[in-house]
Amino acid sequence: MKASKAETPAVLIELDIVERNLQRAQQMADGISLSLRPHIKTHKLPRFAQRQIELGARGITCQKLGEAEVMADAGLDDIFVSYNILGASKLKRLKALHDRIQIAVAADNNTVIDGYSAAFTDSNHKLSVLVEIDTGGGRCGVQSAKKAVKLAKRIKASEGLSFGGIMTYPPRGEISDVNASLSRAKAALLDAGLKVKCVSNGGTPDLRFAGDVTLATEHRCGTYIYNDRMQVSYGHCEISDCALSVLATVISCPAEGRAVIDAGTKALAADFCDAPGYGHVLEYPDALVQKLYEEHGVLDFSACESMPEVGDKIRIIPNHVCVVSNLFDSVHLVRNGLIEETVAVAARGCLV
Ligand SMILES: Cc1ncc(COP(=O)(O)O)c(C=O)c1O
Repeated sequence: MKASKAETPAVLIELDIVERNLQRAQQMADGISLSLRPHIKTHKLPRFAQRQIELGARGITCQKLGEAEVMADAGLDDIFVSYNILGASKLKRLKALHDRIQIAVAADNNTVIDGYSAAFTDSNHKLSVLVEIDTGGGRCGVQSAKKAVKLAKRIKASEGLSFGGIMTYPPRGEISDVNASLSRAKAALLDAGLKVKCVSNGGTPDLRFAGDVTLATEHRCGTYIYNDRMQVSYGHCEISDCALSVLATVISCPAEGRAVIDAGTKALAADFCDAPGYGHVLEYPDALVQKLYEEHGVLDFSACESMPEVGDKIRIIPNHVCVVSNLFDSVHLVRNGLIEETVAVAARGCLV
């Protein structure tokens, strides 16, 4: 079926662009001997995780246990959950995963480590824990090298845990600060007699400079598979590198230059980026996706020479694609304008 005939709103994924994005990143990483551990929160599809591994990724990253469970069920067997896992039931699920695949987790505080320590006690089958360092991003992560050493020692002292190294989710455009924080942490850990097996860095915005983070042994990129308008505004890619679009139908043209589509925040997500509006209209690059309600999108075509009519379909590159993946039960995989397959987004809604 022609992709343009799909019921709307719908997600279209251009397979040739996906493949190009994946190959480009893997070749870049291979060229600088950096391992990739792609973050699957962007696509949430086992088939793309498998393709990332086939192309050379060392393993995958998941943010949530639920995502890791879906990926493990599909045969992915080396997963880093880049998150602090807390609470008895989650620790039980983590243990079940650890019993069947290679899994590592993050920690940036004593409470989380003590939870891991109580749940994992087998010195012959240790859980690998990476200490998260805040390199300027201002989210999770220890604030000093001294604190990293303290946590790493606490991990090492636990019978069922092993210290797996350090990880960070870096701020964009701050490579020298990221390098400085990671070097301070690594030096302090080595001084304390702790081996740092892995230094895990991440992100798509600075993927092209990944080699400049000289200490990193692996890179966790997520958005690079689809790309989005935010990554275009960061200079990571061009609109032509964006693989995912939301197909929408014009349902009303109530005033001059204004069209309303059947896609709002529940299809496009409400994220902002450096460019104005909520997305880029492929057929009308000068149109502004001005306002989103839940189920309505209001577009301003006053800067365009023409505009669509009621019933016409348009494709919109969202500002932030990872959120959009989580909004749809299924996505259409497209090549040459035709839908090759429609697949369920297996890890959709896996927030727990
Ligand atoms: C811990 C962690 N690693 C890696 C990524 C991947 O980043 P990006 O989507 O910019 O490639 C994210 C994104 O949120 C993240 O939180």
